[in-house]
Amino acid sequence: MSAKRLRVAILISGRGSNMRALVEAARAEDFPAEIILVLSNVPAAEGLAFAKDQGIATAVVDHRTFADRERFERDMQATLQKHGAELVCLAGFMRLLTPWFVEQWRDRMLNIHPALLPSYRGLHTHERALAEGVKIHGATVHFVAPAMDAGPIVAQAAAPVLDGDTPETLAARVLKLEHQIYPLALKLVAGGLARVEGARVRIASEQAAPAGLVWPQA
Ligand code: GRF
Repeated sequence: MSAKRLRVAILISGRGSNMRALVEAARAEDFPAEIILVLSNVPAAEGLAFAKDQGIATAVVDHRTFADRERFERDMQATLQKHGAELVCLAGFMRLLTPWFVEQWRDRMLNIHPALLPSYRGLHTHERALAEGVKIHGATVHFVAPAMDAGPIVAQAAAPVLDGDTPETLAARVLKLEHQIYPLALKLVAGGLARVEGARVRIASEQAAPAGLVWPQA
């Protein structure tokens, strides 16, 4: 593949299954991004082992070793720059980011959230969706704005909430969709097909009409 691939760093704090989905998608020759770094704020994050096995550079920036959030973020920023990252994907990264850090990556940082934003920002989305009795739940990939779980939406996928669901069964159903839409969103963004226009993301490609519960269509 001759076209230049966008250099992507993935930030994780734990299991890293979304990171894995991105790494696996980026193996395709025509994928417009390459994963050049997996960075964790948690030294014991499970996902680090997978990244190492794949021969991907890894870094740990342990927030507990810094006096304040700003110093932690400046160290992360230096690490990202050292590796030449051009885009950041948050994938289960469990630290709130300051406006300063978000501004460094304006229109160049994606996040995945396990709910159909703007519903259920924050934690425990599946428990809350069940408690409120919604019939449709899902996941969202969005550009990161300073407010928590906010910013222009790139892709969403919806899942039914079934009568017998527990937070765990619902989470598992949504997670499968997360693993579909995060690679899709990264492909669109890295390929220059998804552009931020104000509060919205315009998808600049001829897409089939939405036939299912995932949009945009792959
Ligand atoms: C995912 O549900 C993601 O949407 C949320 O945290 C979880 C991380 O899971 N932000 P994993 O580490 O990607 O497996």
